[in-house]
Amino acid sequence: MTEKTFELVDRASDRKVTLPVRPGTIGPSVVDVAALNKDLGVFTYDPGFGVTASCESRITYIDGDAGVLLYRGYPVEQLAEKSSFMEVSYLLLHGSLPTRKQLEEFEGSIRHHTMINESLLRFFHGFHYDAHPMAMVSAVVASMSAFYHDTMDIYNPRQREIFAHRIIAKIPTIAAAAHKHALGQPYIYPRNDLDYCSNLLHMLYAVPCEPYHLDPVAAQALDLLFILHADHEQNASTSTVRLAGSTGANPYAAISAGVSALWGPAHGGANEAVLAMLEQIGTADHIPKFLAMAKDKSSHFRLMGFGHRVYKNFDPRAKIIREMCHKVLARLGRTDTPLFELALRLEEIALKDDYFVERKLYPNVDFYSGIIYSAIGIPRSMFTVMFAIARTVGWVAHWQEMIADPAMRIGRPRQLYTGPTRRDYVEIGKRTS
Ligand code: CMC
Repeated sequence: MTEKTFELVDRASDRKVTLPVRPGTIGPSVVDVAALNKDLGVFTYDPGFGVTASCESRITYIDGDAGVLLYRGYPVEQLAEKSSFMEVSYLLLHGSLPTRKQLEEFEGSIRHHTMINESLLRFFHGFHYDAHPMAMVSAVVASMSAFYHDTMDIYNPRQREIFAHRIIAKIPTIAAAAHKHALGQPYIYPRNDLDYCSNLLHMLYAVPCEPYHLDPVAAQALDLLFILHADHEQNASTSTVRLAGSTGANPYAAISAGVSALWGPAHGGANEAVLAMLEQIGTADHIPKFLAMAKDKSSHFRLMGFGHRVYKNFDPRAKIIREMCHKVLARLGRTDTPLFELALRLEEIALKDDYFVERKLYPNVDFYSGIIYSAIGIPRSMFTVMFAIARTVGWVAHWQEMIADPAMRIGRPRQLYTGPTRRDYVEIGKRTS
């Protein structure tokens, strides 16, 4: 079979270039445009990276039209039903499901690294009481590079692995410390006898003066949400981690950059914004007014938790979380669930509205996740932090994949320059405006 290529001709100069097409294992092929500049002297233009593959990756696959999400080939639905966040973390990092022994060793190593340096813990005292937890998490993660000099050689695979285990183990401890700081309560040390999510709940909610009774329903719900948030190929925060990491920056700096990128309401900050929006809507009779606002191009209001760059169908994660809401709320004995009912009604009305139908805008992962976080007592300002804890695994897997790739180069996009042409400096006294 002949290899597929595209030929591009510059009619003005009659020069042409042949661009090779590279197939993936599934999904669209890519056109390798590297020769464009050398042979024709032009760049490609794709603001927002709508059609640009920035790298080759073997980690996660999304079919946005069919609503499919695979981690290392495994459908997210199967992992959500049968796996655990620790097992999925191993899968994303290593490429295959662990044996029982491998999983025990991996979990053991994560448990071993949960504490953070006491000096790092004192960083939180420097923050104002009402600092957003994402600000604290991104700053403290970046500061970790000042504490772990022994694992800074990014080209040493063993040091990369120790870094990976450290950050995955410590990010819940950092997140919980940010929460405790906001509450003005003492920080709670990790308990290594607990599983990943139970330990997180313990650090978030325990107080030194009385025993804390872990709710297994809450721990299971968190574990499932973390599986669904663990990775999502080249999204904005993962691409940020790759770009920062491609400079050879230390990995804590790269992950901190990812936390910052995740914070925006168009990305991971949407879960916090959804709950704010639902509270603002209040009751179902106000839905039409808010839908009209979302459709009005002169308003900055968007229906939060709706729409996705890749999914032009149901986000498979949103489907699982909506089902989960029913189960978790019932298991927690919540019968009065006005926000969940409002979200269901909003989804129903929006999915019948021509504006949303024509643009293929469906609920995304963030539409229902806040309902569950709220039900298990997580405050709204911590929602995006929860997302960051889970996504840390994906960020680390992508950073590892990039650093291990012998073809890695610094990420350096080009531009279409539309500013002034060359002009000479004018002395200040001679400037007219
Ligand atoms: N409400 C109203 N209109 C919307 C929405 C929305 N939520 N999302 C997209 N549109 C419209 C948009 O105005 C545009 O209309 P037109 O073609 O008339 O100009 C059209 O749909 C295409 O939208 P776009 O902005 O070109 O799409 P995008 O791929 O650049 O943006 C998005 C994707 C997720 C940023 C966007 O859908 C959005 O802002 N959604 C709300 C925020 C949100 O829920 N974010 C979470 C995303 S999933 C989790 C994650 O990434 O972390």
